Amino acid sequence: TWTMKSFIETSKKEIKEKVGNNRVICGISGGVDSAVTAVLVHEAVGDALTCIFVDNGLLRAGEAKKVEDTLRKNFHMDIRVVDASDRFLKRLRGVKDPERKRKIIGNEFIKVFEAEAMNIKNVGFLAQGTLYPDVIESTSFKGPSAVIKSHHNVGGLLKKMKLKLVEPLRELFKDEVRLLGKELGMPDEIIHRHPFPGPGLAIRCIGDVTKSRIDILRKADVIVLEEIKNAGLYRKLWQAFAVLLPTKSVGVMGDERTYENVIAVRAVTSLDGMTADWAKIPYEVMERISNRIINEVKGVNRVVYDITSKPPGTIEWE
Ligand code: XMP
Repeated sequence: TWTMKSFIETSKKEIKEKVGNNRVICGISGGVDSAVTAVLVHEAVGDALTCIFVDNGLLRAGEAKKVEDTLRKNFHMDIRVVDASDRFLKRLRGVKDPERKRKIIGNEFIKVFEAEAMNIKNVGFLAQGTLYPDVIESTSFKGPSAVIKSHHNVGGLLKKMKLKLVEPLRELFKDEVRLLGKELGMPDEIIHRHPFPGPGLAIRCIGDVTKSRIDILRKADVIVLEEIKNAGLYRKLWQAFAVLLPTKSVGVMGDERTYENVIAVRAVTSLDGMTADWAKIPYEVMERISNRIINEVKGVNRVVYDITSKPPGTIEWE
C-alpha cells in the first residue's frame, strides 16, 4: 500500500539517482509547495542543495521571514535571500494592467533569480514545486492565472544555465503535499498556509502599485488573517485576504469629513481553486475585521465584503 513514508523513500532515491554529483538550486516563494520541495530534496541530497529566496517586496507581513527561519534553523539549509523589493517596485511604477503586472513580476523574478544562481558553482538541476494540477493546467485548460504561474516561466533560465528540472511533487495534489510536509516534520504554520499568488500583493493592489499603497494593503491583510485565525476559521477557508481598491470614498471621523481608501475583504471556500464559494463568515468576525482595519490602518475609512463566487467571479480581483 502507498503511504507517505514510502513515497518519501522512493522519491529520495529517485532524486539522488537523477542529480548525481551535481548541485541543485531551488527557488523559495514563501508558500507550501516550494518549501516542501526544498525539504524533500534536502533530505535526498543534503548540502548539495542551495535555496534562493527572492523577496519581491510584495509578500505578506512576516511570511518570508518565517519560511527562511524554518528552513535555516530547523532544517539547516543553505538559503540565500535576495532583497529585490526596490527593483520590483521601480518596474511596476505606473502599471495598472493586471497581466502586465504579472509579466513584469515574472520577468523580474527570473532576472534576479538567474543573477543569484550564476554565483553558485556546478549547478545542474533546478528543483521546483510543480503539483499535479499545475501539470494538467499547463497541458490543457489555460485559465487567466494558469498561463502565468511564475514557476512555469523558467524555460529560458533552464536553457541558458543548462539546467534540468527536478519536480518531486508532480504527482501530488495540494492536500497530499500538506501530508508530505507534515511527515517531513514541517511546522503547521507553513504546511497549512493559504495559497498565495506569485505576483503577490501587486495583484491585490488594484491600480497603481506603490510602496505606500502596498503598506496599507499589507496592514489590512494582517488584520484579516489575525481575526480569521482567532475565530478558528483559517483552516476552513481556501483563502482570505484584503484587496486595496483604486477608489476613495467619503467618511466621517469626529466632526471631520474624510476622503480615504476602501479595502475589500475576500474569503472563499474551495477544494482546488478552480471553483469557489464566498465564505459565510459570521457577522461578528466581519465586524471586528472592519473596526480594526478602520481604527488601525491609516488611510482607510471603508471596508466592504466581496460576495461573489467563482464562477462567475475569480478569487483574485486581478
Ligand atoms: P483566480 O483568481 O484565477 O485564482 O480564481 C485561482 C487561484 O490561483 C491563484 N492565482 C495565482 N497564482 N500566480 C499564481 O501563482 C498568479 O498569477 C495567480 N493568479 C491567481 C489564486 O490566488 C487562487 O488560489
